[in-house]
Amino acid sequence: MAIETSCDDTAAAIICNGKIKSHLVAAQSVHAYYGGAVPELASRAHQQRIIPVVRQAVQEAHIELVDLDAVAFTQGPGLLGALLLGTSFAKSVAFALGISLIAVNHMKAHALANFIDEPYPNFPLICLTVSGGHTQLVLVKDHLDMEVIGTTHDDAVGEAFDKLGKLLGFPYPGGPFIDQHAKKGNAQRFSFPSTTMPQLDFSFSGIKTAVFYFIRENQKKDAQFVVKHREDLCASIQATLVDMLLKKLKKAVVQTGIKNIALAGGVAANSGLRGALEDLAKQENWKLSIPRMAYCTDNAAMVAMAAHHQYLTGDFCNLKVTAKPRLPF
Ligand code: KG4
Ligand code: ZN
Repeated sequence: MAIETSCDDTAAAIICNGKIKSHLVAAQSVHAYYGGAVPELASRAHQQRIIPVVRQAVQEAHIELVDLDAVAFTQGPGLLGALLLGTSFAKSVAFALGISLIAVNHMKAHALANFIDEPYPNFPLICLTVSGGHTQLVLVKDHLDMEVIGTTHDDAVGEAFDKLGKLLGFPYPGGPFIDQHAKKGNAQRFSFPSTTMPQLDFSFSGIKTAVFYFIRENQKKDAQFVVKHREDLCASIQATLVDMLLKKLKKAVVQTGIKNIALAGGVAANSGLRGALEDLAKQENWKLSIPRMAYCTDNAAMVAMAAHHQYLTGDFCNLKVTAKPRLPF
């Protein structure tokens, strides 16, 4: 069984011989009201949901708790209080049932979401992991052998989507709203500067500032500027962010010579990114893997998949293990 509580989704999954038997996610809608994930509220909501979520995951897998061989949990990175909840819960289960305990890295688990459904991608592969907390290019040599070859120096791309969404007047998280409105807009209408970073790294704070000043200047002339141009603004912003991601992915392919490409993380839901990546993969002759949406956003099935491989190699921990909000990759 795997438990995921790194941010604002409480999730549990059951895996048996590498196949997901059940997986459940209870999203926490409380954060929308505050315009972002509130750590204390996330911890409290995890506490309320963890037992019902685990109970249902066990039920849906048609097993009993005593059938479990091991319990896995997300050790980090994430919000400390949220991670602590999952860590303590998993430790209690391991202690009570006398079973093995497995600590999983959330970011590695995101990449392994590509190995839940067949056909599995071939190794080595480059995984572009894009979420609200991270933007990474990961060289995946094997299920447990991965290396970050590019990362953001400031905001994650999902965070940029959400902050820009807020500027445009959308509720949190703004990413899906930008996506929706971008479909009806003209991506060439406005142009925003994309920050160039060395090597395979990213930066998304510049575009946020550029859009902020652009909107402010235009609103001085026309208070209704955002309302009148919302769709074109969304399309132009989205196109800039997607272009920044794909430029670096292309560079990573040139540098490594690897043409097996995978996508992971919540921003993989973005239709502009998916479409542009699919076109690029065809054009460049890449083999592309995109997990189904439920495995892109935070979930416990991906944690279970990582745990399955750690189980096979005997990568267990003891009850002294603690949550690590800044767990290195
Ligand atoms: O992986 P995830 O569920 O949680 C984290 O680990 O962060 O990713 C959440 C992020 C949010 O920033 C959200 O706005 C973004 O994924 N997202 C999207 C879309 N759907 C979710 N961003 C752009 N377009 C979407 N359709
Ligand atoms: Zn995540």
